[in-house]
Amino acid sequence: MSGAGVVIAPSILSADFARLGEEVRAVGQAGADWIHVDVMDGHFVPNLTIGPDVLRAVRKWTDKPMDVHLMIAPVDPYLEAFAKAGADLITVHVESSPHVHRTLQAVRALGKQVGVTLNPGTPVSALEPIIGLVDLVLVMSVNPGFGGQAFIPEAIGRVGAIRAMAKGRAMRIEVDGGVSADNAGLLSAAGADTFVAGSAVFRGGEPAYAGNIAAIRAAAVTGARAYAPPLPDA
Ligand code: DX5
Ligand code: ZN
Repeated sequence: MSGAGVVIAPSILSADFARLGEEVRAVGQAGADWIHVDVMDGHFVPNLTIGPDVLRAVRKWTDKPMDVHLMIAPVDPYLEAFAKAGADLITVHVESSPHVHRTLQAVRALGKQVGVTLNPGTPVSALEPIIGLVDLVLVMSVNPGFGGQAFIPEAIGRVGAIRAMAKGRAMRIEVDGGVSADNAGLLSAAGADTFVAGSAVFRGGEPAYAGNIAAIRAAAVTGARAYAPPLPDA
């Protein structure tokens, strides 16, 4: 994984929701690569956030790719609405649908990048039948629902296991939850290249955003230099 491949995706869950457009523009100007949008339904996860109308509104404030993390069940009835509202990548949970394979096919059919994610309590083996369908695997390093939670360190080993499972196939591994400059290096060394951060980006307010993003990126790039990609099967 080259340092140039590192993506930093601030989670707008930690932004000022009353100024969401300005906040999205500000983190974009401060060096964010993607904007991470957390969608919660108060059912699959114990919190409520936003729907497609808000995504459509903030989409106008930046040209950065919109990385939409759907924490909703059922998920299938809402895929098209998020696609039309401006999602570039749509990530769904393996736990949110009894037919996750079909759900991933549906995201692909909508012309969007396809992501899949799994909660910290779900075995990584759940990815084996579907890893070939996706552009990105998101490793949750907290139980989803809230920003500002403590990083679960077992996520580092899970990243390594998933990178090995990918067998050299080009695929992003993203980490979400408690990510900061303190753990981005270890995650990157294990094979992660895409880093969601809410509180570690938005803390300190707008003057701090550029420095916060740069610190996470610097840690990730340093770790990436230590990462040796697994060889694909002969
Ligand atoms: C948690 C969300 C995360 C969260 C990250 O359910 O998926 O994206 O906002 O926030 P921090 O970086 O503060 O843990
Ligand atoms: Zn998220």
